[in-house]
Amino acid sequence: MKIAVVGTGYVGLVTGTCFAEVGIDVTCIDIDQKKIDNLKQGILPIYEPGLEEIVSRNVDAGRLHFSTNLGEAIQECDVAFIAVGTPPGEDGSADLKYVLAVARSIGENMTDYCVVVTKSTVPVGTAAKVRREIEAALERRDADIEFDVASNPEFLKEGAAIDDFLKPDRIVVGVSSERAEDVMSKLYKPFLLNGHPIIFMDIPSAEMTKYAANSMLATKISFMNDIANLCEIMGADVNMVRRGIGSDARIGHRFIYPGIGYGGSCFPKDVKALIRTASENGYDMQVLKAVESVNEAQKSVLFDKVSKHFGGELKGKKMAIWGLSFKPKTDDMREAPSLVIIEKLLNAGCSVSAYDPVAIQEAKHSLGDTITYAKDPFEALIDADALLVVTEWPEFRAPNFGVVGKLMKEKAIFDGRNIYDAKELAELGYTYHCIGIKTAHKEPASV
Ligand code: UDX
Repeated sequence: MKIAVVGTGYVGLVTGTCFAEVGIDVTCIDIDQKKIDNLKQGILPIYEPGLEEIVSRNVDAGRLHFSTNLGEAIQECDVAFIAVGTPPGEDGSADLKYVLAVARSIGENMTDYCVVVTKSTVPVGTAAKVRREIEAALERRDADIEFDVASNPEFLKEGAAIDDFLKPDRIVVGVSSERAEDVMSKLYKPFLLNGHPIIFMDIPSAEMTKYAANSMLATKISFMNDIANLCEIMGADVNMVRRGIGSDARIGHRFIYPGIGYGGSCFPKDVKALIRTASENGYDMQVLKAVESVNEAQKSVLFDKVSKHFGGELKGKKMAIWGLSFKPKTDDMREAPSLVIIEKLLNAGCSVSAYDPVAIQEAKHSLGDTITYAKDPFEALIDADALLVVTEWPEFRAPNFGVVGKLMKEKAIFDGRNIYDAKELAELGYTYHCIGIKTAHKEPASV
C-alpha cells in the first residue's frame, strides 16, 4: 500500500512518519520547498520527543519520502491524507481554503481509485465539500475516476504523539462505502494489535467525534478548576477531592487536575468552533460557553494570588517564571496561560525573568524582549520577589529548595500546577500558594 500525506505540520508529519514506521510507503507533501529540503536533511519544523529519530530511520529505510510534487504522489497512492492547516478566518471560523485547494489538486491529478481522507480538524460537513471539490476537478478534466472520501480525526497529544499514534486508544473513521472501509481497515491493521478498536461510522459523526472528545476533556478541566476555586473558599483540599472522585470508575483519574486553564492548539479552538457551529445552526451550547469562560478566568488566578500577596504593590517587583509552553514536553506557545500571566505582571509594573527547557525560541515570537530569558531555572530566580510555576516540566518537580531560597529576595512560590508539598515548603520557611488548597503561609519576609 502507498499513501500520500499532504501538509507536513504537526499532524501530517506524525501521521506520515508513523505509517512509514510500520512498513508502509509514505510520501509527505508540502508546498513549502524550504521545509521539504530541511526534512530531507532531517531538520524538523516542530519539537516532538522521538520524532526526529523515527523520521531519519524511515528515510534511511527508503519508506518515507518528502516532496513538493503533489501530482506525482497522488498518481501513485491508494490513500491521500489531507493534513494542512485550518487557520481561523476573519470571523473566527476554520478557514478551509487550504483543505479545499488540496482537494482540487487531488482531483486534477488522480489517475486511479483513491481514498481521500481529511485528517485536519474540520467542521462537520467538510468531507462533503472535499468530495464536491474533487468531483468538479474531475469533471473539468472529463475524467471518470472512482474515489471515496473519509474522515479520520486524530487524537494525538503533543509530547506523546508518537505513542498515541502507534498505540491508539481507538481509531475513528467516517466512511460512506464498503470499499473505503476495507482500505482503511487494511491501513490501520498494524496499529490495532493491542486489541483496541477501529470504529467505523458515517462521515458527519466522525467529524463531530473529534469536537465532542476535545470539548468533553476541556469540560472536565474547567469543572475541576471551578471545584478547586470553591475548595479554597471552603477550606477543602482539591487534591483530596480529586483522588476521592477519580476513584469512581465512572469519573476516572485522568484530566481532572486543576491548574491555570487549558491552552494549546486544540481545546480552545475546538470548544470555540463547536459553540459557533451550534449557534449557526440555531442551538445554544450552554455548558461549553461556561467551560470557555471558566477557562479564561482561570488564566488570571495565579496573578491574582501574587497581587493579593503583595497587597497590589507590584511595581518594581521581579518575578521568576518557570515554564512558558502550554504544557510540558512541547515548545508550543499557542494559547499558553503563561502569556496571559506575563502580560498581567508586566502591566502591573513587574519585571519578569523566565526559564523554559525548550520553548524560549517560540516564546520570543510573542514576548520579544519584554522579559528576560534565563539559561537555567536558577538564573531566573536571582533577586526574584516570587517564583511562579506555570508549566509542570519534570525538572521543576524537586529543585534544591535550599539553593532556590538563597537566590530569591523573598521565599514566595506561586504554584499553578500543584507540584509541591505545601507542608514541606512551609517547614522550609516558604510562603506557598497553589490551586484549590487554602495554604497556611508565612507572612512575607526577606531572606
Ligand atoms: C489535546 C487532546 O488531548 C488530543 O487528544 C487532541 O488531539 C489535541 O488536543 P494537547 O493539546 O496536545 O492534546 O494537550 P493535552 O495533554 O490534552 O492538554 C491540554 C491542556 O489541558 C493543557 O493546557 C494542560 O495543561 C491542560 N490540562 C490537562 C489540565 O489543566 N488538567 C488536566 O487534568 C489535563
